[in-house]
Amino acid sequence: MKGLEPHRSTMLGAATTARANVNVALIKYWGKRDAALNLPATGSISLTLDGLWVEASCAFGAGSNDDCLIDGRPAVEPDRGRLLRFVDLVRAEAGIEAKAAVRTTSGVPNGVGLASSAAAFASLALATSRAAGLRLEAPALSALARRGSGSAARSIFGGFVEWHRGARPDGLDSIAEPLLAPSDWDVRVVVAVVSSARKPVSSRDGMKRAAASPLYPAWVDAAERDLTIARGAIAARDLEALGLVAEHSAFKMHAVGLAARPPLLYWLAATIECVHRVWALREEGTRGWVTIDAGPQVKVLCDPADAHRIAAALADVPGVERVLTCTPGAGVEVRA
Ligand code: PMV
Repeated sequence: MKGLEPHRSTMLGAATTARANVNVALIKYWGKRDAALNLPATGSISLTLDGLWVEASCAFGAGSNDDCLIDGRPAVEPDRGRLLRFVDLVRAEAGIEAKAAVRTTSGVPNGVGLASSAAAFASLALATSRAAGLRLEAPALSALARRGSGSAARSIFGGFVEWHRGARPDGLDSIAEPLLAPSDWDVRVVVAVVSSARKPVSSRDGMKRAAASPLYPAWVDAAERDLTIARGAIAARDLEALGLVAEHSAFKMHAVGLAARPPLLYWLAATIECVHRVWALREEGTRGWVTIDAGPQVKVLCDPADAHRIAAALADVPGVERVLTCTPGAGVEVRA
């Protein structure tokens, strides 16, 4: 992990540094109602995870070019373009044309195979907007982060978070809000890393393909019901109700992809074996519920008392590279 170096020499403004954690969706975002604005077809609910963070630093000033470093190395396409399109949004909002020096540093350990774009764009939203002289409240930050990566809208907040679909064509009502602070409900997410390779189909392309699946309309139709159940379970601290609806949402999301043409299958053999282990443990009274994103990793929601046993069982599955146990994490914050 490299530290962030101060980079004020050619810049008029001071650098702002912000840090955000990744989040895991319990009710999934899988499909867009507007691709340009990253507006989701459905709402979603997530848990922000402690210790899996990205730090972003930004200064605007007198340089003649934008200068972007990712983990200490000059950003290359397509990451550079994506990052600078995001910076352009901030420049337009702030009414400035100054060039930017942007650095992002990932604290997600190398090789854990967890997409960190949610943490990256949540930290970039705060760092770039502050550096540009904007003082955005959390809802506006959430809307800005969403433009970089949909799930980043949720990483603005800690703990359990709901990102609303919204109805406005301009997306101003498609923002996240906290449901419970990290300290309000102590749960664990055990992550079994099955492959650290970059996923073969990005979320963006996966969502495009899923939208043409014959199962997609049913997925969208059922979302409101799943969100209501999850919201109620979180309010009642009912882990079983939340776990069951989260598992259901994840498998429905993957079923939509399986029915697409060409089919979308993110799982590997070890992914399926992990699911069976978790279900077998549940039969025996150790309660964990599975969720899987656009990749092969298996994430298990459970009570702190059961995390150790679940982690040990998953570490034993052939093909599992490593296992992490995460606690609820905080929302985005300024570091310097
Ligand atoms: O934010 P994106 O574009 O990387 O999409 C995230 C998609 C899932 O992780 C599969 C689901 C979610 O709600 O985070």
